[in-house]
Amino acid sequence: MLDPGATEHLAEWERDTRSSIIFRSANGGMAEDINGKIYLDMTSCSGASPLGNNDPVFKAKLAQAMERETDILPSPVSEQRQILAGKISEMFPSNSRVFFLRTGSCATEAAVRIARHRTGRPVILTAGFHGWHDIFQQHPWSGNPPAKDQHIQDFQYDLDNLEQQLVGNEGRVAGIFVTPESSVFPPELLQEISRMASPHGVLLIVDEVLCGRRYAKGGYYRKHGVKADLITLAKGIAQGIGLSAVVGTAGAMVGADKAYLGNTYLRENRAYVAGNLTQEISEEAEIAARIAESGLALKRQFQTSFERSEIPARVLGAIPCSESFCPRKSMEGSSLRGVCNTVSTPATQGHT
Ligand SMILES: Cc1ncc(COP(=O)(O)O)c(C=O)c1O
Repeated sequence: MLDPGATEHLAEWERDTRSSIIFRSANGGMAEDINGKIYLDMTSCSGASPLGNNDPVFKAKLAQAMERETDILPSPVSEQRQILAGKISEMFPSNSRVFFLRTGSCATEAAVRIARHRTGRPVILTAGFHGWHDIFQQHPWSGNPPAKDQHIQDFQYDLDNLEQQLVGNEGRVAGIFVTPESSVFPPELLQEISRMASPHGVLLIVDEVLCGRRYAKGGYYRKHGVKADLITLAKGIAQGIGLSAVVGTAGAMVGADKAYLGNTYLRENRAYVAGNLTQEISEEAEIAARIAESGLALKRQFQTSFERSEIPARVLGAIPCSESFCPRKSMEGSSLRGVCNTVSTPATQGHT
C-alpha cells in the first residue's frame, strides 16, 4: 500500500487537482489564479524564466522572428542551432563543444553517459540535486529507494566522504558531479572539489542547470576560476522553452561522439530561435547582474525584517553578516568542510 503522503505532491499536478492554487496568467513577477487572486512569484518559474513571466519584449521579438522562421525541421542541426551553439561557446570558451537536449534532467543524465564513455569507467561520485531520472533518486530529493545504479555514489557535499570514495574506487571513477548550490556553499567548496579531482584523473562535471547562465556569462564555475570538464545548463537558455545543454572541453566531449543521445524534439527550431533571442536580450539588458542585484536587495530586506521582528530565521545566499547574525558561525561544527555562503559584495553572486 502506498503512503498517501508520498503521492500528494504529484497528484496536485493532475486534472482533478487538490491544489488550492490554479494559475491562469502571469506578468513579470506577478501571477493570477482562476479566482482573480494575485500572487508574487518568488520562484522566477523555478528559474526557467530569467526575463520574467510574459516578457513583452521577448514575446514580440519571438512572434516577429517566427513569421520568417520554420517551427520544426527534419534535422536537429539547423542554422539557429548553430548560431546558439556559437554564442554559448563564446561564453564558455574552455568548454567550447555544446550538445543540446530538452530538460535539465536530460542534460544531467547525458553528462553522466558522456563521462562514462569518455573514461570507460562506471562510477560517478555525486552531490546535490540533478533532476528526476532514476540514477539521481537519492535522499533527500526522493523518498523512493536510492538509485538503482550501484555505480552512483552520493558524497553529500562532505569532502571526507568524497576522499574516501575516490580512494575506495581508485581507477573506476569516471567523474565527480556536483551542483554548486550557490545559496548555501561558498565557491571555495567547488574549488576544493576540483583540486581533489585532478590527482585521481577523474572528470569534474558541474551541474549548472539552475545557476549557469542566470548567474554569470560563463556560469558559476568560470566566475570562480574552476576548471570543469563538463557543465550542464538549462534555466536561462531559452526563457522557459525546453532547451538544455551539456557544454564540455573537446577532450571530455569525445564521450558524446561514442554515446547515443538522440532526441526527436530537438528538431523544434522555435526553441533555438527563443534561445538566441533570450541570449541577445540578456546581454543587452544585463539580466544576470540585474537578477543578482534584485536578489541581494530582497535578501537584505528579509534579513532586516527578521531581525527587527526578532524572527529566528536565516537568509541563505551571499549577503553581508549583520552584527546579530552570522550565517558562517551558524554552520560551525558541521560535517561540511565547505562553509555557508556569506560573501558580501559583488552584485553578481549568490542569487537564487
Ligand atoms: C541543479 C539542477 N539539476 C537538474 C535539474 C532538473 O531539471 P529539469 O526539472 O528540467 O529536469 C534541476 C531542476 O530544478 C536543477 O536545479
